[in-house]
Amino acid sequence: MFGVCYYPEHWPESVWPEDAKRMASLGLRYIRIGEFAWSRLEPDPGRYEFDWLDRSIAVLNDAGLEVVLGTPTATPPKWLIDQWPEILPVDPDTGRTRGFGSRRHYDFSSEVYLRESLRITRALAERYGDHGGIAGWQTDNELCCHDTTLSASPVARDAFQSWCERRYETIDALNEAWGNVFWSMEYRSFAEIELPVGAVTETSPAHQLAWRRFSSDQVVRYHDAMVEAIRKHAREGQFVTHNFIPTDDTNADDFALAKGLDFASFDNYPLGRTDLKFADASPEAFRRYMRTGHPDFSTWYFDQTRGLTGKGFWVMEQQPGPVNWARSNPRPAPGMIRLWTLEAFAHGADCVSWFRWRQAPFAQEQMHAGLLRPDHSESDAWPEIERAIAEAKQLQVDSLPAATASVALLSSVESQWLSDIEQQGAGYDAVDVQFRYYSALRRIGVDADVVSPAADLSSYDLVIAPALPVIYDDWLENLKACGKRLVIGPRSGAKTEEFGYPASLPPGPLQSLIDIRVTSIETLREDCPEPLDYGGKTYESLVWRECIEAGDAEVVARYEDDGAAVVRQGRVDYLGTLTDDAFLRDYLRAVCEGQSIETRVLDEDLRIRRRGDLVFAFNYGEKALADVVPEDAELLLGERVIGARDLAIWRT
Ligand code: GAL
Repeated sequence: MFGVCYYPEHWPESVWPEDAKRMASLGLRYIRIGEFAWSRLEPDPGRYEFDWLDRSIAVLNDAGLEVVLGTPTATPPKWLIDQWPEILPVDPDTGRTRGFGSRRHYDFSSEVYLRESLRITRALAERYGDHGGIAGWQTDNELCCHDTTLSASPVARDAFQSWCERRYETIDALNEAWGNVFWSMEYRSFAEIELPVGAVTETSPAHQLAWRRFSSDQVVRYHDAMVEAIRKHAREGQFVTHNFIPTDDTNADDFALAKGLDFASFDNYPLGRTDLKFADASPEAFRRYMRTGHPDFSTWYFDQTRGLTGKGFWVMEQQPGPVNWARSNPRPAPGMIRLWTLEAFAHGADCVSWFRWRQAPFAQEQMHAGLLRPDHSESDAWPEIERAIAEAKQLQVDSLPAATASVALLSSVESQWLSDIEQQGAGYDAVDVQFRYYSALRRIGVDADVVSPAADLSSYDLVIAPALPVIYDDWLENLKACGKRLVIGPRSGAKTEEFGYPASLPPGPLQSLIDIRVTSIETLREDCPEPLDYGGKTYESLVWRECIEAGDAEVVARYEDDGAAVVRQGRVDYLGTLTDDAFLRDYLRAVCEGQSIETRVLDEDLRIRRRGDLVFAFNYGEKALADVVPEDAELLLGERVIGARDLAIWRT
């Protein structure tokens, strides 16, 4: 299924019918509208104007299109902010109020904003909840985007104090849990607690972790209330989803956030994301992916989004050309629009919807491409989209069952919080650690699901936890009970729930799975790797190095001083170091083969993914690739030699 994001309020009403006709003839089915339209839906306090929305929905429905209706809470209008300035969030880095004039200018802790958001959401749900032409709902827009999870406002501080009181019950318990005797940080009452911002030097890590947990809870609380308000009036069959930004950007617990949704959606901007991620890379490294996007970025986010609900997901916004918000904004290489589309389906998408229908000739995003140019002519993306739609429909890739991956990668926002709060070495970044494991699996042709440590692990042959600093009791029980082959990355189990050092030394609670002790930890400069011996070859140990007292565990890889770097006991491996990618690939290949998981070393530009009984191969590079499609395979799409930025699909 396919769709597009449309803003009827941006165009004269006379244009709507022609737009709708062209959308339908392109093969689109779902049109997302409304998510920023508050100032048109309620121009003055309490005066709703829904007629224009009724008419635009009718025009779309008349053309055979279904509507996904966004709630407009990402953009509170001026009158609301003027009436209730406390809605505005405060930037924790500068202490300045983040004002009106763009979007997401609201504080998740503002009770006033919660009330007002519920009011507009209810008004829409009551009016459109039983509308036959509305297929479903999108809550808000890109929650937490533009760094809005954390706010240092007075309302956030007050709510944090109450949250602390609920969690710790007495101030003595909080002082004890946070170690506040250190540097005389003890509080006498909850009312004395400040947010951990603006201090002279680092604030207590336990305090910072509590603030992040609290802030994440506030986002979830706000969002859950909206979902509930919609569900109350939504007819059976209307879905509720949310368009997530990359999970490593929300700074919140996305598993919790997605809990009340029918499925999760993702906004996919491969070139913009690559540009930002490669900000510090060499020009050579960046140029390679400048017009294609890195071959593992979009899929990393697809696999994470799918993992949020364990169901098919939507790409609610798909990049159709240059964006306007990265450091540089190139055009996609020919072929990439089509490739990205089919890649999303390969990873379990049910629908791909582009952002946006027509490039806006005004305001902030006038340099952002659409499917149409501002003069209504077809943009460069159009023919590729036509082709992708025809191909996807021919193979019905959107309705194939999701393939079951044999590997589970465990993920939790807390690992990201840990490295934000206590990096310890400039090169340590928990998100990057997880990505490297993921990317190594992709390079050896292995599909992975990204799931919560609390997820049902019974269908996997191998479970990998690249970085899980805090291990909750139920997670530990899950890891024990699943009985699966387990690979645990450095820094796992290295912190108590309150960000302390485990009494039995790291890996703390994981010692009940592998009986070792980490006796010392050092970090190295990123450009100062040291040798790592594994399987008769020498690789690199990088950035993060733990000295492991291995006990009875077998030493699988060693540092040059013979110290244990990777150890194994029964079904469990523990890696005490970060390594180069070559090590990860060879090591994971050996582990996968030990579990009879098929592996295959792929060309740097090639990626493979299975869905249903189909295998998809994507060539991100400039050279044609031979010997990818098996001789006896039934080729359904593409050629046996896969051209540049091209793909092949075959049946297994
Ligand atoms: C998304 C956002 C859209 C639009 C788009 C531009 O993050 O949801 O509203 O701003 O980026 O690429």
